[in-house]
Amino acid sequence: MFDLIGKVALVTGASQGIGEAIAKGLAKQGALVVCAARTEAKLQSVVAAIQADGGKADHVVMDLASSDSVRAAVAAVVERHGAIHILVNNAGITRDKLLIQMKEEDFSVVIDTNLKGAWTAIQASTKPMMKQRWGRIINIASVVGQMGNAGQSNYVAAKAGLIGLTKSVARELASRNVTANAIAPGYIETEMTSGLSDEVKAEFNKTIPLGRMGTPGDIAAAVVFLASDEAAYVTGQVLSVNGGMLMP
Ligand SMILES: NC(=O)c1ccc[n+]([C@@H]2O[C@H](COP(=O)([O-])OP(=O)(O)OC[C@H]3O[C@@H](n4cnc5c(N)ncnc54)[C@H](OP(=O)(O)O)[C@@H]3O)[C@@H](O)[C@H]2O)c1
Repeated sequence: MFDLIGKVALVTGASQGIGEAIAKGLAKQGALVVCAARTEAKLQSVVAAIQADGGKADHVVMDLASSDSVRAAVAAVVERHGAIHILVNNAGITRDKLLIQMKEEDFSVVIDTNLKGAWTAIQASTKPMMKQRWGRIINIASVVGQMGNAGQSNYVAAKAGLIGLTKSVARELASRNVTANAIAPGYIETEMTSGLSDEVKAEFNKTIPLGRMGTPGDIAAAVVFLASDEAAYVTGQVLSVNGGMLMP
């Protein structure tokens, strides 16, 4: 089950947190995983950990805020490894502020990174995926993209946009055997949420039927499924991995 031997994957934001777990999860199933982000030293250490575990990995430095950088990263994957089968748009940033205090720059940088960066990576990967008649596009959205969140109008707009983008891409590429799905994580223990106090976390946990925050591994498991042949008939979907906090 979930055999990914022979598949080449590009995972954005793979230098830490959820992206690192996704990269390790895909590599464990046999995929050659190219880890992308801005900080090379962290990417190198993730690649070394995967290789030490017997997996295949490589890295590419990429800044999602620059379309040229994203296109160059996808081109590098294809050039070095001959294909791109799996694209995981995981990298994301927050610039949280109440609407009334949010600067235009806070809105633009989050949209450019979280939404436009993903669109560019998808567009750049589409041709090779269509040509090889096999592809998996997996976009990491968020539960707040499904329900809204005060103080995150920029982030939520980007994540809701990512869900719409996923559905359009799924319709466009289905005839070429390329699927596109989104995962909507709930609150996951990573650096992004490390600033929350124990009190706030305890309050969150009360709203989660499974009674805990998620782990990066919870998301990686969902990615492995969507990337696999076993998920061949799943496209245009939003898989909620949120401990039950939202049942859309
Ligand atoms: N944690 C949660 O509770 C949660 C919940 C729902 C959804 N998510 C989503 O899950 C994804 C991963 O979250 P996380 O918690 O693992 O975040 P994280 O720990 O903050 O990691 C973010 C990753 O994205 C990379 N990144 C940031 N800006 C980038 C840019 N401009 N270009 C390329 N890479 C960039 C970072 O590496 P560099 O800084 O080195 O570039 C890092 O690898 C995000 O899309 C997030 O919105 C998280």
